[in-house]
Amino acid sequence: MYKFFRPFLFLIDPEKIHALVFGFLRFMSALPGFKAILKFLFLYEHPSLEKKLFGLTFRNPVGLAAGFDKDAKLIDVLACLGFGFIEIGTVTPKPQSGNEMPRLFRLPKDEALINRMGFNNQGVMAAVFRLGKKRSSVIVGGNIGKNKATPNESAYQDYAECFNALYDSVDYFVVNVSSPNTPGLRELQEKAPLQQLLKTVKSLSLQRPVQKPVLLKISPDLTEGQLNDIVEILKATGIDGVIATNTTISREGLQTTGDELNKIGAGGLSGKPLRERSTEVIRFLRKALGPGFPIIGVGGIMSPEDAVEKLRAGADLLQVYTGFIYEGPGFMKRINRAIAETRI
Ligand SMILES: Cc1cc2nc3c(=O)[nH]c(=O)nc-3n(C[C@H](O)[C@H](O)[C@H](O)COP(=O)(O)O)c2cc1C
Repeated sequence: MYKFFRPFLFLIDPEKIHALVFGFLRFMSALPGFKAILKFLFLYEHPSLEKKLFGLTFRNPVGLAAGFDKDAKLIDVLACLGFGFIEIGTVTPKPQSGNEMPRLFRLPKDEALINRMGFNNQGVMAAVFRLGKKRSSVIVGGNIGKNKATPNESAYQDYAECFNALYDSVDYFVVNVSSPNTPGLRELQEKAPLQQLLKTVKSLSLQRPVQKPVLLKISPDLTEGQLNDIVEILKATGIDGVIATNTTISREGLQTTGDELNKIGAGGLSGKPLRERSTEVIRFLRKALGPGFPIIGVGGIMSPEDAVEKLRAGADLLQVYTGFIYEGPGFMKRINRAIAETRI
């Protein structure tokens, strides 16, 4: 059904259709029975899908990756589409408009997207306000970042502000230092600044009577040496888990022509071309971190088989974004059914 509509949806600018679909779903969700219909069509439940990780119980392992519902506008509707958890953000302390449009591009020949959104969001307090009205019990993660204008030396203050503001509204946190679209952000993945940042955020959690898990989201473009540094830091700072991976700046092996890519310009690539590298990073991390360390695998899951591959590589939970755009609202049901049938 979605595949029938997709060519029409793909005629419209990707950011415009995103906003239109959001508006439509928000309007429809006010109508009685709409969410029940979504659940009937798209939920897939099976006891074997339940997963306990860092003190939380996930109803299934397939989550919505950060960036889709940055401002927590649609949690209750998205929860009816079969996600086991939803990550909001990246949010920053102050609202910011992000980069100039156009900044989101489809690469249909590659089943991919390129984005240079630049952390457009309405600020952390807007998310806190909306999460206060949420009805669903779905697990929500808070992906936090820094404002573009904040220099890296004081970035930890932005992360701390978002962390404190969101504390009562989310179930886990993600420190995002891996977006390629905020100038200089990925430098925070270097050893010394990363250690300081993670120590700061983790200590904020430790000061609370009830602690919430803090995860780190990393880039797929790190070298083996940098990944080894990250493994060391994750262990030393007592961070609760890692999300691998964010989008890549690589353009290797694409079907989209060089001319088309030049026209699109800079940004992070997601979807099918990211799959292999992201799985490779997950496999590396699992080996280096050992069997018990929580890993969320994300990047290029475009089919149920891709999801199973990520779990076999060592991921405990998964997230999707581009696959959801290409495959539609039935995607999570298909993945969850495959996982239940494979009995991983
Ligand atoms: C349009 C768009 C916006 C994104 N925004 C964020 C973001 O704000 N924070 C973040 O951590 N990741 C963001 N991501 C990255 C995704 O969460 C995910 O890590 C990446 O797209 C790889 O997964 P995929 O291949 O399933 O899309 C964004 C991705 C896309 C396509």
